[in-house]
Amino acid sequence: MRNILKLFAAIAVLAIAFPGAVLAADDGHGTEIEAQDWSFAPPFGHFDRAQLQRGYKVYQFVCANCHGMKLLSYRNLGEPGGPQFSEAAVEALASQAQITDGPDDMGKMFQRPGKPSDRFRSPYPNDQASRAANGGALPPDLSVMAKAREGGPDYLYALMTGYGEVPEDMKMTKGMHYNTAFPGHQIAMPNPLSEGVVEYTDGTEPTIKNYAKDVSAFMMWAAEPKLEERYKIGARIMIFLIVFAVIMYLSNIAVWSRVHKKDHAAKTET
Ligand code: HEC
Repeated sequence: MRNILKLFAAIAVLAIAFPGAVLAADDGHGTEIEAQDWSFAPPFGHFDRAQLQRGYKVYQFVCANCHGMKLLSYRNLGEPGGPQFSEAAVEALASQAQITDGPDDMGKMFQRPGKPSDRFRSPYPNDQASRAANGGALPPDLSVMAKAREGGPDYLYALMTGYGEVPEDMKMTKGMHYNTAFPGHQIAMPNPLSEGVVEYTDGTEPTIKNYAKDVSAFMMWAAEPKLEERYKIGARIMIFLIVFAVIMYLSNIAVWSRVHKKDHAAKTET
């Protein structure tokens, strides 16, 4: 019984000390993905609201020119656990998008400013138009990208900051761009970020690294909006298990102490 309790306690301590499996450094394509410090790291992490707000800005100004995020609505930007923009801000952000609606009484589609209930506007009407505008490559939807790729936000960060000089021994296909994080090191997406391309108003330095970090955090929230809730439930379960282990340990002592006492009494009688 003692040994089982010890094992139990050891597992609990390990789970708290080393949350989440340590990231694989190599994904088999010869790409190195470095783990970053994230505010939302398990088990007690949470999203940094200001970071998510900046991340949305980067997505909106830069990435949304080519990528959609079809699973998100503008109203999600104001919900708990996310960037938590104010109601007025959400309305303003939604209204900046021109949404195709219709058909009207004449059977025609028309454009109108977005509403909080609208899904994020997609840059292209369909995949074919999307490919045609991107030299044949399809910019994938980014709604759940942070969960779809091994390494999650670490990979996204590495991808955004992985552009650089083509090594001499590398032969590039026409129209492709060298990227250290992308499997095969050749990606159709041109480097989307450059210093100062998005204006930050909260004093954060407008560097490529900060843009990359913020937009990766934003994509993580988009892919897992209930992350904070999940951690809270996990933490409660851990506390319950620890308290339960202590109770079991104490009751173990209490139960056996009576037996030991009886033993002792029997021995002294004889
Ligand atoms: C000029 C258009 C364009 C812009 C702007 C752009 N992308 Fe892309 N992106 C693409 C294309 C095209 C691909 C497909 C690349 C391929 O398959 O080689 C892609 C692929 C991706 C992928 C998938 C990589 C993978 O592992 O398959 C991610 C993630 C991504 N983009 C994120 C972003 C983010 C974040 C931004 C904004 C900072 C952004 N993109 C801006 C065109 C763009």
